[in-house]
Amino acid sequence: MSYYEPYSELSDAAREFDRVIQSLVEELDAINLYNQRADVTKDESVRALTLHNRNEEIEHAVMLFEWLRRSTPEFDAQMKTYLFTSPPITEVEEIATGGAGAADQAESAGSGSLGIGSLKK
Ligand SMILES: [Fe+2]
Repeated sequence: MSYYEPYSELSDAAREFDRVIQSLVEELDAINLYNQRADVTKDESVRALTLHNRNEEIEHAVMLFEWLRRSTPEFDAQMKTYLFTSPPITEVEEIATGGAGAADQAESAGSGSLGIGSLKK
């Protein structure tokens, strides 16, 4: 747990949020660890095992992301904007909000619709 403010002053919700964030950091670190071990091993059975473990950790990380999405509207909104889209990531927000790049995107797609759903391919 990494508290930046006195624990006694934190609400129950902030404490639970911290638990999930810390768990996510640990899962992402474990993914990186197993990925590196799989990358360097010369033993195919060790590579298979470490990749299996990496993929298990990916599941755990995504479950934590889903908890954050359900509990924090800002995560939900950002995930709805960015996840499962296909344009360049740096252009997704502008397209989703109908910014300057949206017209170009619609033109190249041959579509008059710019709904968020249209980004999800
Ligand atoms: Fe895990």
